[in-house]
Amino acid sequence: MNKCIFVDAANELSVREIPEFYRPRGSQSLVKVRYSGINPADLNHTKHLGMNNNVCGYEICGTVIEAGETSRYTVGDIVFGSNKPGRSKPAYHGGHQDFAILESDTMSMKLPSQVPNADAAALGIMVRSAGDALINLFEIPFPAINVHGPPAAGGLLVWGGASAVGTAAIQLAKAMELSPIFAVASSANHNTLLELGATKCFDYRDSDVVKLIGDAAGKEQNGIKYVFDTVCKEGSLGTMDLCELIATEKDVKFAGCLPQFGRPRWKLVMASRGADVPVPFELPGQIGKANMQWESRLERTVAWAANTYGVQFRIPNVTIVKGAERGIQAIRDVNEGKVNFAKIVIEHPL
Ligand SMILES: NC(=O)c1ccc[n+]([C@@H]2O[C@H](COP(=O)([O-])OP(=O)(O)OC[C@H]3O[C@@H](n4cnc5c(N)ncnc54)[C@H](OP(=O)(O)O)[C@@H]3O)[C@@H](O)[C@H]2O)c1
Repeated sequence: MNKCIFVDAANELSVREIPEFYRPRGSQSLVKVRYSGINPADLNHTKHLGMNNNVCGYEICGTVIEAGETSRYTVGDIVFGSNKPGRSKPAYHGGHQDFAILESDTMSMKLPSQVPNADAAALGIMVRSAGDALINLFEIPFPAINVHGPPAAGGLLVWGGASAVGTAAIQLAKAMELSPIFAVASSANHNTLLELGATKCFDYRDSDVVKLIGDAAGKEQNGIKYVFDTVCKEGSLGTMDLCELIATEKDVKFAGCLPQFGRPRWKLVMASRGADVPVPFELPGQIGKANMQWESRLERTVAWAANTYGVQFRIPNVTIVKGAERGIQAIRDVNEGKVNFAKIVIEHPL
C-alpha cells in the first residue's frame, strides 16, 4: 500500500493510503521513494496558489522499480528530482509518498554515487532557484555548464545566505568566480557560509547592517551589482527595502524568491522554467512563460552540483526525520520559518 502525506482543500495535512497502483508510461518511471525533501513551497503553493487537495511535496530520491517504454532509466537505478507544480497535478507526481512517478525527461537525473540519498532528495529545488537567479535573471556566465559570455560586472549580495537557496547561490557564485560575495545571515552561521564561498558575512540583526555592508562594499574593487534576496520579507523596512538602500547604483540587478509587487526592478526566481507558471497574478518582470533554454541551464546546473558534490557543492545541514507524523510537523515548521539553516528530508516508507 502506498502511504502519503496529503494536503486537503483546507490546507490541512494528514496521512492517507492511496489504493491506486501507479503504472509509468512513456518516459515516466515509477520510483520507490527513499527520502522526500521538504520545501517552504510544500504549503506555500497550497495556501497561496490553491495547489491543494493532493499529495503534498515535490522532491524525491529513490529506486526505479518500473520504467516506461521510453524512460531514460532502468529498473534498479537510483534517481532524484521533482515534478512541476500545478493545480491539477496528478497524485503520482506528489513528493511525500512511498511510491511516486518521475518524468524522466525533465527535472530528474540518475544519482552520482558520491551524493548521499538523503541529500539528493533536497538538492534540486535549491540549486534550480539559485541557478535561475544567477544564470538566467542576472545573465552571469557559467562556463562549467557551457553558458559563456562577458565576465560578470561586479559582486553579489545574498540576503538570506543561510537559507537553502542562499547556500546554493553562494556556492554557485564562488564557482563563477564572482567577487565579492556578501552574505546576510545569523552570526552563528557565518563560519559555514565563509567555508562555502562567502567572502564576508553580516548579521541582519545588527541595527547598522546597511551601513556595514555599504562600507565593506566601498572597500572592494568591484561594487555590488547583483542582489539576491531569498527572504523577501515585506513590512516597514523589509529585506528588499534594505537591499535597495545598500545597492544604489542604477545598473544593479535584483532578484527575489517571492513575488515583489510594485517593484519593477526586481525579478522573480522560478525553480522550474519548463512550463508556463500557473499563478493567478501578473508576475514581476513578466517572466512566467516557459523558456526551454533557461530550463536546460537549470538541468545542467543541478547536474553540476551533483557531479561536484562534496568538492564544489554541498548542503551544509541535512536532517532526516522518520515517521509520517514527524514529517507532517516538519513540513509545518519549515513553512512557518521555524527551521534554521537545515534541509529536512523525510525517510520512507512512511
Ligand atoms: N520562486 C521559487 O521558485 C522558489 C524556489 C525555492 C524557494 N522559494 C522561496 O524562497 C524562500 C527561501 O526558501 P529556502 O528553502 O531557501 O528557505 P529556508 O532554507 O527554510 O530559509 C530559512 C533561513 O532563512 C533565513 N532568514 C529568515 N529571516 C531572515 C532575514 N530577515 N534575513 C536574512 N535571513 C533570514 C534564516 O537564516 P539564519 O538561520 O541565518 O537566521 C533561516 O536559516 C522561501 O520563501 C521559499 O518559499 C521560491
